[in-house]
Amino acid sequence: MEVILRPTREAAEALAARLIAEQVRAKPDSVLGLATGGTMERVYAELVRLHVEEELDFSLVRTFNLDEYVGLPGDHVCSYRYYMDQHLFRGINIDSRNTHLPNGVAEDLAAECRAYEEAITRCGGIDLQLLGIGKSGHIGFNEPLSALRSRTREKALSPVTMAQNAGYFSQYGPMPQRGLTMGVGTILDARDILLLVTGEAKADVLARAVEGPVTSMISASALQLHAHCRVIVDEAAATQLSEQEYYRWIFDHEPEWEPYR
Ligand code: F6R
Repeated sequence: MEVILRPTREAAEALAARLIAEQVRAKPDSVLGLATGGTMERVYAELVRLHVEEELDFSLVRTFNLDEYVGLPGDHVCSYRYYMDQHLFRGINIDSRNTHLPNGVAEDLAAECRAYEEAITRCGGIDLQLLGIGKSGHIGFNEPLSALRSRTREKALSPVTMAQNAGYFSQYGPMPQRGLTMGVGTILDARDILLLVTGEAKADVLARAVEGPVTSMISASALQLHAHCRVIVDEAAATQLSEQEYYRWIFDHEPEWEPYR
């Protein structure tokens, strides 16, 4: 893992957007794994800006999102499909047929999950997977005790996640209690991984994921097993990391990290 500590949330978000943009420029038909949530909103706003102002071209890009709520159709304002359309897809020149999210209203959810895995494989696998972390330690909706080799499947949301996301549903009826999510194993198959973590509220779980033991109790800790995982954090999220000084030192002294500066 490479922990990249940036001084502010804005700097962390800008770096994440820049690395995604570099991926797209280097391989115009990249397969991107995408996440939703508050952490990603300004990353996507920056990608839209790069498209509009610097002609970042998404015409050949394919995307697979991590997860979707069970029971929410794509036009529901709280669905992740709706989030992606609003925050990213409608602002860039991506072909909507190349954007994929699990269908949370599929008649046969198990078949939908199998088809999702097959679609990722048919596209050649995910080049770059963007991730946030939940307060439960989840990536996607891989709640505590998710098998480290799990694949896309239906998953009950933990009470911590229900509480974390309840605010989004306050005006829009009851929050679904289940989601479809790529598995931890699906995520670990990505060629590159970018985990973005900002804000003090994530400090404790970030430290457990990065510096704690690999455990299915904190799904994000499985990222320690990945050979190309960059963890971009702001100072607020880094407060519980015991090796902050080392991360700052290595950032300043490791020549291979020049592209992140
Ligand atoms: C959403 C997802 C989740 C979020 C996580 C952090 O697609 O995969 O794992 O990344 O819950 O959410 P925020 O950014 O809202 O704190």
